[in-house]
Parts: sequence; structure tokens; C-alpha cells
Amino acid sequence: MTAQDPKSDDLTLIDALILLHAGTERQGPGDEAFSQALLDRLPALRGTGGIADLGCGTGTASLLLARHFTKPVLCVDASRAFLDALEAKADEAGLGDLVTPLCADMGSLDARTHRFALLWSEGAAYNLTFEGAMKAWRPLMVDNGLAVVSELSWFGPERPAEAEAYWSAAYPQMADEETNLAHAERNGFRRIFTERLPDAAWWQNYYGPLAERLDAHQKSSSPMMQTAIAETRGEIDLFRAHSAHYGYTFYVLEAV
Ligand SMILES: C[S@@+](CC[C@H](N)C(=O)[O-])C[C@H]1O[C@@H](n2cnc3c(N)ncnc32)[C@H](O)[C@@H]1O
Repeated sequence: MTAQDPKSDDLTLIDALILLHAGTERQGPGDEAFSQALLDRLPALRGTGGIADLGCGTGTASLLLARHFTKPVLCVDASRAFLDALEAKADEAGLGDLVTPLCADMGSLDARTHRFALLWSEGAAYNLTFEGAMKAWRPLMVDNGLAVVSELSWFGPERPAEAEAYWSAAYPQMADEETNLAHAERNGFRRIFTERLPDAAWWQNYYGPLAERLDAHQKSSSPMMQTAIAETRGEIDLFRAHSAHYGYTFYVLEAV
């Protein structure tokens, strides 16, 4: 048992993964300068709807949105702990008044209560599947509202066997960009543009900090922590070998 794993005998795999991510700036791959560049390319927001960050985690994108628009941002996540961390960060940044945390299922938001001119979601849509997210989120959009949704995507038809085997087990619904765009279109969105998150962002902001956490927990006596570490190292090695074939694509969409 290490100091970081106070209940290492009882850890589930999810507990272990949460511990590994605890204290990291991001819970998924992303990059603030990249997101800012996307914001700078967006058409002006239309309609009277609000701004939301769905599956916001500890809110790196939420704070960027609040700062960029100086408008309130609804920050939705299923984890109370992540939202508490987001609130603390927002207060520290002087953005507390612009951030409204909501602990809820982002797949069941009520369209009678929520209407968005901008729906932002980084690294979270997979929890509903991309297709499920498109279905659940279109009714929340004002006409011509904008959605920026990142999704782990195949970059083309070529899929190295090792990567295909890993992702078809870990995320069977993972699709290529054209298929995801077809899901978006079938559910009432139009493509404005797509952009792939550069590899450097994965290493600098996600796998790099995560690898340090793996090292810190390496001596844990918890079998689940050892499983989580081995699985995460496998995922990192896979990305190092095959990042030309898959990664996060940001789908910038308009509700039509
Ligand atoms: C990989 S993290 C990404 C977090 C953040 N957007 C980022 O890029 O750092 C996915 C987030 O989705 C949240 N989540 C998963 N399923 C959810 C659901 N059904 N409703 C709301 N949040 C959910 C998790 O709690 C987690 O914070």
C-alpha cells in the first residue's frame, strides 16, 4: 500500500483510473491554444441560447469559454468531485461568476430547460457514443446553434491490426470521420469544419502528465492499480506506434 492508495485493497478498476488521473489538469487529450484557435474560427453565435461545456471534467475548456465570451457557461459533469475542482479553479481565475456547475447526466438534459447557442464537449461524447451524443444533443440546440465536439476517430481506412484489436475491444463504436459526420448529419447537424488534435497535445497535456502519475503509483500493492497501470501503459504505447491512424478529431457543426 502506498501513501497515494489509502484503500488499495478495496480499489476497483475505476477507482484506480480515477486515482491515476487525480490532480491532472485534463482528464482527456486537448490543448488550450488549439481550442482557442477553433474558437477564433467560429462564426458569431446566433440566437438567444446559452453556452455549455458537456462532460466538462475539471473545466479547462469551461474556463476558456467563459474568458473568451465573457458570458455564463453551463458546466455539466456526472462527477461532483470534478465540478468542485472546476469551481475552485474558476474562483481562483476570477471567473466564478461566469461558471454554473451542473451535476447531471449530459445524455438526459431536458430541452425544455436547456437551449444552447454553443455546445462544447471535449473527450466526453464517447460516453454516449458519438451517434448517441448527436441524438441527445440536437434537441438542446437553438436553430443555427454551434456544436464543437471532439471524438476519438479513425483517420482513414487503414487500421493497423494491433490498434484495431485494442480499440474494437475498448471502444467498439469508434468510427472514421466520414461515418461520424454522417451521424451528425442524420441527426440535424451540418459540418462547418473538422480539425485533428496534433500529436504534441496528447504528449504534452495528457499522456506526459499521466505517465508521471503511472511512475508515482508503480509500487502500489493494489492488483487493480497494477491492472490500470498496465492498461494505461499499453494505450500510451499504442498511440506512440499508431497515432498516424487515429486520434481526436474536433467536429465543428451547425444545427440545421
Ligand atoms: C475524458 S473526461 C474529459 C473531461 C474534459 N472535457 C477534458 O477534456 O479534460 C470525460 C468526462 O465526462 C464525464 N462524463 C462521463 N459520462 C457522463 C455523463 N453521462 N454525463 C455527464 N458527464 C459524464 C466524466 O465524469 C469526465 O469528466
